[in-house]
Amino acid sequence: MSTGKIAIKDILEKKNKQKITMLTAYDFPLASLIDRTGIDMILVGDSVANVVLGLQSTTQVGMPEMLHHAKAVSRAVKHALIIGDMPYESYQLNPEESVRNARRFIEEAGCDAVKLEWFEHCLEVTEQIVKAGIRVMGHIGLTPQTADKLGGFKVQGKDADAAQRLIQQAQDLESKGCFSIVLECVPDKIAEIITQKLKIPTIGIGAGVYCDGQVLVTHDLLGLFERFKPKFVKQYINLSSQIEKAIRDYKEEVIKGEFPTREHSFSIKKEELEKIT
Ligand code: KIV
Repeated sequence: MSTGKIAIKDILEKKNKQKITMLTAYDFPLASLIDRTGIDMILVGDSVANVVLGLQSTTQVGMPEMLHHAKAVSRAVKHALIIGDMPYESYQLNPEESVRNARRFIEEAGCDAVKLEWFEHCLEVTEQIVKAGIRVMGHIGLTPQTADKLGGFKVQGKDADAAQRLIQQAQDLESKGCFSIVLECVPDKIAEIITQKLKIPTIGIGAGVYCDGQVLVTHDLLGLFERFKPKFVKQYINLSSQIEKAIRDYKEEVIKGEFPTREHSFSIKKEELEKIT
């Protein structure tokens, strides 16, 4: 399925022509499977904190964890554009360090771009990273790293003033050089307005049908994350129950002596065996 490596210009050219597809991955096996399908972009999301590391908040992961996972993903990917999600502390707690940290995603981990969530100094930080020659994806609406400041994990932009602020944020990020923007948990009509106003593509998650593209957390669509299921998630398969059944079957077979059998065993020639005292 792979047709060579996707470039940022390919993503930009898809606007108004073809929907852009994006999924998260944090490790080699899932990144390989996703890449094989021809998905456009793979996000090494800080959602790794919740869905893989069992943490409560995405703010609990830092650069070491994100680089570790990004390296595994880039070893697997031949086609998709890889985006490294900048962890909270790498640019919100420490804006001065943001360019250096963004560069580590590209140079050490093999990512093609970085993503950062909206915060107070987002525009200055975006501008600095873009000036350093690194491509940036913005993220507005529900920004999990600062969800406490937004009143929790809630749909954003539900009144005219809040919606107007989101539209302004999107336009400002575009003017600072972002190549695309994730819209998370935004009313569909506001996502439509933003999508129409921008030249760069919008990627929705809980943002309705009018965005230029769609992203989901892969563990959600595979049914591998059981703690909660947001309204915007479509689960395409329940892998948790299938994996659990396989593991129960294995356990039963080992206990009953049904696995391993001769077919899973190695042999030694009879004459060699006879030499053993
Ligand atoms: O970390 C993540 O998975 C994300 C997506 C929800 C866009 O930021």
